[in-house]
Amino acid sequence: MDPAFLQLAYISRATEPFEEDELFQLIDHSQKSNKARGLSGMLVYNSGYFLQLLEGPAPTVEALMEKIGRDPRHVEIKRVFEKRGAQPIFGSWYMAYKNLSTFKPALRQRVEALIVQLAGKPKVESPEEFMKVLQMMRQEF
Ligand SMILES: Cc1cc2nc3c(=O)[nH]c(=O)nc-3n(C[C@H](O)[C@H](O)[C@H](O)COP(=O)(O)O)c2cc1C
Repeated sequence: MDPAFLQLAYISRATEPFEEDELFQLIDHSQKSNKARGLSGMLVYNSGYFLQLLEGPAPTVEALMEKIGRDPRHVEIKRVFEKRGAQPIFGSWYMAYKNLSTFKPALRQRVEALIVQLAGKPKVESPEEFMKVLQMMRQEF
């Protein structure tokens, strides 16, 4: 176990609805800069909300999180999940992104429901369940 390895997920609300090309620009930038930083992760955007997972050395994740937290493109940034010492789920993805509409319907509904739930809660209810959903999402890429 590497205690310096951190998985951090947050949910936030887009200040303005994101158009597809803005999203692609954001993903493109994130993939390049996360590669340079040695980070991996995943981003989902649905109905004005972001759900992002960042994985990597804790100081690097925290430094990026601080930058992301100052980004005016979103507000109400709330950390909902943190785990140390696990294995990366999205290790081969600097920032995996896929439109939710292309997920298997059952998983799409589950992720949509999760985002709605998290918007009204301080943390994920069950970290184990959350990890399971992340693993299932990983299968979609
Ligand atoms: C929802 C959201 C997710 C983001 N994710 C990342 C990310 O994974 N990696 C990253 O470098 N920037 C990400 N950003 C952009 C940062 O907030 C910031 O604009 C960027 O890191 C500035 O990059 P620079 O200092 O390299 O110019 C994200 C922004 C938003 C709004």
